[in-house]
Amino acid sequence: MIKLTLIVHLLGATIWTGGHLILAIGFLPQALRKKDPAIIEAFEAKFERIGIPALILQVITGLTLAYAYLPDISKWFSFETHVATHIFVKLVLLVLTLGLALDARLRIIPKLSTANLTSLALHIVAVTLISVLFVAFGAGIRTGGLF
Ligand code: HEM
Repeated sequence: MIKLTLIVHLLGATIWTGGHLILAIGFLPQALRKKDPAIIEAFEAKFERIGIPALILQVITGLTLAYAYLPDISKWFSFETHVATHIFVKLVLLVLTLGLALDARLRIIPKLSTANLTSLALHIVAVTLISVLFVAFGAGIRTGGLF
């Protein structure tokens, strides 16, 4: 069962992190060059339907994997072992991702135009970097620590 959870977690990671890398490297530079938010909107409209369920799956499978490593949830905040520290970092990354996503959804996207395109671009770059950190800190758990 834990193997299946890990496979789903890894599939979700390919979608979430891969999708954001494609957006940030493949579409964002063009949108900024042409000052055209529609390029990002077109990508988001397609990606959202698979990206959001993937993130939800990441949270469910991630919490399940964390529980399998450390069934005492108070240990997740203990910094006692590299596993505890990496789980804590992933939870912080999750809060940052949700904060940035909510800010973009509620404040930027409803009034998206060339005027606030840079603000959206910064959000996309930040969420993409965080998505890569999710993968890095995930890989660090099994391999004895990222550093
Ligand atoms: C978009 C979000 C996330 C991405 C892209 C991601 C990605 C990854 C990756 C690539 C691994 C490596 C798996 C391996 O070593 O075989 C991993 C492992 C792990 N992740 Fe995540 N993760 C995300 C969110 C979360 C969350 C929210 C948690 C909850 C604390 C979490 C907990 C874990 C745990 C405990 C492992 C170790 C699994 C194992 O070694 O069996 N992840 N993650």
